[in-house]
Amino acid sequence: MTQKGVDAVVAYLDVAATTRVDPRVAEVVLHWMTEDFGNAGSRTHEFGARAKKAVHEARSFLASTVGARTEEVIFTSGATESNNIALLGLAPHGEQTGRKHIITSAIEHKAVIEPLLHLQDTRGFEVDFLEPGPSGRISTEAVLERMRPDTLLVSLMHVNNETGVIQPVAEVAEKLRGTPTYFHVDAAQGYGKLPLDLTAAIDLISISGHKVGAPKGVGALVTRRRGWDKVPLSPIMFGGGQERKLRPGTLPVALVMGLYEAARRFEQKRERWERDAQAMRERMLTALGITRFRVNGDAGHSVPHILNVTFDGLNAEALIVRLKEQVAIATGSACTSASYTPSHVLTAMGLPTEVATNGLRFSWFPDQVGDFDPQGLAETIARMQPGATPGT
Ligand SMILES: Cc1ncc(COP(=O)(O)O)c(C=O)c1O
Repeated sequence: MTQKGVDAVVAYLDVAATTRVDPRVAEVVLHWMTEDFGNAGSRTHEFGARAKKAVHEARSFLASTVGARTEEVIFTSGATESNNIALLGLAPHGEQTGRKHIITSAIEHKAVIEPLLHLQDTRGFEVDFLEPGPSGRISTEAVLERMRPDTLLVSLMHVNNETGVIQPVAEVAEKLRGTPTYFHVDAAQGYGKLPLDLTAAIDLISISGHKVGAPKGVGALVTRRRGWDKVPLSPIMFGGGQERKLRPGTLPVALVMGLYEAARRFEQKRERWERDAQAMRERMLTALGITRFRVNGDAGHSVPHILNVTFDGLNAEALIVRLKEQVAIATGSACTSASYTPSHVLTAMGLPTEVATNGLRFSWFPDQVGDFDPQGLAETIARMQPGATPGT
């Protein structure tokens, strides 16, 4: 953060929404905008050739981070677009083969739920939205129980963006291996932070750049082959045929190079990052010990940098406003015209409306919290809780 005043006091604890672009990543982006600015599709000069070579290198690196082949990565504008290309792109194959059943979860991001509802409402697909129970974790058994001969696709997220709960995607992939059902994983929150073992049979993976320190507006879709067979995706957009015709449009070379640089840097620091994020989590939980709160979601299966809590007797929106000078945090509740609707994730976990409406998400990069002190935060919250002794 560069804003004076804000910088000094407000800790940014909302990295699940977006992250700060590392200045060294920004430098790379600037270079590919202002110096090597060629179109990766230009075949007639060096400017194009250099851009094409750079994009190839970025593609090959990204592929290596998920155990895929270079040509299996297509660049997109982010995980929303990747999800749409994957889910809507597979629909014609379902229609042609009469396989129109899809399994997903009710805790997915809207960028999965909405395209699937679209398929259900307008194209006759039948979509099962699994609910996870209070742990926030979908069970592999629940997925397998719903499998049918006409199940075209299973789509599950890697890490839930509100609770940080890690879903059993490698296990589901192993179970689906050898079946005709395709498996899509929205890895927007997990990519870079958790190893995603693609020796497991995940056919389609959505990646978002701005969750790992790349600029907003770039991401990737990995579409893996099964032996020689490609995932039978039909394009949902038409144009110049770039990105294996699945994502036509001039490649944003500078953004792609930013994603490459950010992913490379994240990979280098991952182990240390994970240790430090965990240490920060422990500091947070210890400090919050003076308040009355519950953690939403299974803490035993969670990424270290996302923590969703509800404080007894406290309204999340009021709390966010009150804490604005100390921390930037988020709630999963959506503001409608007159009231707040509870988070769809916490609701699908079966939590009472009061808890689901008042969940707060703290999410951090340990190297970007500065001298943030969770103790001060906890004291403010404790003072606000009903029954607090005045002056404490
Ligand atoms: C789980 C999940 N999927 C998809 C998205 C959308 O990603 P993007 O902003 O790259 O389109 C997000 C972003 O918040 C997310 O958390």
